[in-house]
Amino acid sequence: MATETKPFWGKKTYCLITGASQGIGRQIAIDFAQNIADNSSFFLLARNLEKLNETKSLMEAANPKIQVFCHSVNLSEPTGVELHKLITLSLTVFAQDPADYQQAVVVHNAGSLGDVSESAVEMRNVEKLDKYFTLNLYSVTILTAEFLKVFDIDRTKSEIVFINITSLCAVKPFPSMGYYCIGKAAREMYFSVLAEENKDLTVFSYSPGPVYTDMTDEIIANVESDEIKKTFTNMRDESKLLTTQQTVKRLVEILRDRSFTNGGRRDYYDEP
Ligand SMILES: NC(=O)c1ccc[n+]([C@@H]2O[C@H](COP(=O)([O-])OP(=O)(O)OC[C@H]3O[C@@H](n4cnc5c(N)ncnc54)[C@H](OP(=O)(O)O)[C@@H]3O)[C@@H](O)[C@H]2O)c1
Repeated sequence: MATETKPFWGKKTYCLITGASQGIGRQIAIDFAQNIADNSSFFLLARNLEKLNETKSLMEAANPKIQVFCHSVNLSEPTGVELHKLITLSLTVFAQDPADYQQAVVVHNAGSLGDVSESAVEMRNVEKLDKYFTLNLYSVTILTAEFLKVFDIDRTKSEIVFINITSLCAVKPFPSMGYYCIGKAAREMYFSVLAEENKDLTVFSYSPGPVYTDMTDEIIANVESDEIKKTFTNMRDESKLLTTQQTVKRLVEILRDRSFTNGGRRDYYDEP
């Protein structure tokens, strides 16, 4: 049953993390495993099962008192039925009922950059647009809906937390990054609306800053805008990109201190 007075990290938690096979998502999985209450359960999703299992091993080394279950899923082709079944399957694997947890958390981390060679006026291929927004927006709303069907707050009385991994690109336009900026802006607004409509949910968007991952390598390799290419190349060469450890440490602190507004956003560079 819910223990409202316990802080975020002190509660027995069910935590679903998307895109946990590498980069920021993998680090979130490891740091959350280190900080979470014993007997918590983690459900990791991404396409690459081998890399998810590597994340699982790193988590178990960090904390042997947790359960971790990995499943391969392509969030570019999500169906509500499949996602619902997967959440239910994870509970069967953990041998737990939703009401056995004091807290249920979803970290919506999976994401992609989109075609960074295309300018805004070139964004006219419906199939391509649809594919991008299916992964970066629609799968997020579908997973949230299915999660709330399983973790029915009225029945479980547990705290339900949605953490959206967002970007500066949600609030600031960057050339050649139309897909990414639009997707992040829409995704962030979805969570603000969710919070506005459901005062009993805990919801916030975390913007991790520029972090050295495959995604930043992809920007440097493929972005059409010379200005963006130069900015990211300089940041990489001058070691100014954050590490995944640095940014996730800040997320852990934000959750510890609950230093966010429900439905709002926090950036790595915001004042504590
Ligand atoms: N790096 C940065 O500077 C930065 C800055 C701000 C925000 N962010 C955000 O942080 C999040 C993580 O990014 P990252 O930098 O860690 O990038 P990354 O290393 O490219 O990781 C992306 C993750 O998303 C998963 N993913 C991609 N397509 C998927 C699909 N179709 N189905 C399921 N999972 C999929 C990938 O797993 P599989 O390939 O195994 O499917 C991977 O685990 C993203 O939302 C990104 O927008 C990153």
